Amino acid sequence: MAAAGGTRRGALLALLALLSLLALLALRAGQGGEGRAGSPRLPPGLLEELRQRQRDLRRLAAAAEGGQAEGAGLGCGDLRGATGGGVLGSGFTKVVQRAALPGGGGAVALKSVHGAGREVRQCEQRYGAPAGCRRLAAYKLLKEVALLQRLRHPGIVQLRGHCLDSGGDPGAGVTAVLELGAPLEMIQLLQTPWEERFKICLGLVKLLFYLAHSPLGSIVLLDFQPRQFVMVDGNLKVTDMDDASTEELSCKEDNDCTLDFPAKSFPLKCSSAGKCEGINEKKNLFNAYRYFFTYLLPHSAPPALQPFLSDILNATGDLRYGINETVTAFEKVLHLYKSGLYLQKRPLLLKEYIALKGFRTVEAEDYKCWPSYSHLGCLLSIHSPEEAAAICNSQSQCQSFILTQQRTWTGRPLASFQSSPTDLIPDANAVVYIKRSASSGKRL
Ligand SMILES: Nc1ncnc2c1ncn2[C@@H]1O[C@H](COP(=O)(O)OP(=O)(O)OP(=O)(O)O)[C@@H](O)[C@H]1O
Ligand SMILES: *[C@@H]1O[C@H](CO)[C@@H](O)[C@H](O)[C@H]1NC(C)=O
Ligand SMILES: *[C@@H]1O[C@H](CO)[C@@H](O)[C@H](O)[C@H]1NC(C)=O
Repeated sequence: MAAAGGTRRGALLALLALLSLLALLALRAGQGGEGRAGSPRLPPGLLEELRQRQRDLRRLAAAAEGGQAEGAGLGCGDLRGATGGGVLGSGFTKVVQRAALPGGGGAVALKSVHGAGREVRQCEQRYGAPAGCRRLAAYKLLKEVALLQRLRHPGIVQLRGHCLDSGGDPGAGVTAVLELGAPLEMIQLLQTPWEERFKICLGLVKLLFYLAHSPLGSIVLLDFQPRQFVMVDGNLKVTDMDDASTEELSCKEDNDCTLDFPAKSFPLKCSSAGKCEGINEKKNLFNAYRYFFTYLLPHSAPPALQPFLSDILNATGDLRYGINETVTAFEKVLHLYKSGLYLQKRPLLLKEYIALKGFRTVEAEDYKCWPSYSHLGCLLSIHSPEEAAAICNSQSQCQSFILTQQRTWTGRPLASFQSSPTDLIPDANAVVYIKRSASSGKRL
């Protein structure tokens, strides 16, 4: 297997390795080699399922061949000597383990077939062929690897390499090496500042835009749920790609093109090419609306941005917007937010504060506010000192605030609001603002 990353040769070798494993799997599927003594063949049903997945994978490999797949990256050799770090998560088909690569290669997530997962177990109950069932599940992981090789985007978990151990049981020998993430905790996300929740939704929208116009065509995530995503450095990334499809539903007439959801359905058009127009894009977008936007976008947003967010929710919830318009609408909200244009005209309050440049206060626990960036005190993202003054005036405990160089992802400064000014220490990059009324007559 190729070890060099990023080269075309590496990409080609990776593809060849994948195709040769395919051939091997096909051979074994044909021969059987499992089941009761005297019965050399796999159950016909299982054989058919295996062939179906094989065809799927071959189609994907063929579609990817012309393009510029990324290099093979890490291979089996790099995993030898990796130390395990416990299970990060598991689903019906796959199990994901944390591992530390030898030689300071860092921490990664290793994805492999989940032998005790529902997919393999149900297949075993049905066909009584453990090895064949593992192979069936292995195809899903192979498909994921093939997709991740071709699809590179900040919203897609990065494939750092893979290992195909074609000796022994092929089902057990597929390992995808992924960048390490943290499973998505929706409850936790609901407690983070609006700016962070908006970032997640914006990241998702950009991912859906990429999927709609991907090098493999418009891709739909058939199983679209928060558990298919992980967080890497505060960014949302999809990790489960085995249920992704590049096929758009075929049709004869408009009636064949109804997009159904539990509480809603949308009639779509059948194109002259016999495909339901935009069905993949629309399915992704409505799922983003129902699983992410409705929870993460609206609450505690800056009031002046609420109408824009309501419009996004309404337009995606009714599929009036396609993904292009949704991206535009999100970018507009981001622009309004970054430029401070959302701030309503307010009385100027900063003049009530004395600014001490080149100082900050000693860090100490202070009063809390919501949604603070720090659990020790009240640390908020602000547009300007003027906005910070308005916030301080609105909080009864607030007597001062400090601006440091700390920035959020949008480039806005973080301000720390405090009740009692403690000792000042020099800090060239900070400014302390103290309420004049709080300095109790003392002239500073
Ligand atoms: N790169 C990663 N870093 C950390 N955790 C991850 C990573 N990739 C996946 N996980 C965790 O492992 C779980 C299982 O992965 P994955 O969703 O690919 O398996 P699956 O069997 O297809 O799941 P499902 O049954 O939901 O379709 C995920 O829900 C996620 O919590
Ligand atoms: C969008 O707004 C219209 C008109 O107010 C309303 O009838 C419709 O239910 C809204 N749709 C969603 C998804 O909120
Ligand atoms: C959406 O944007 C993409 C990329 O810019 C473009 O190719 C496509 O035609 C646009 N689609 C629509 C419906 O405007």
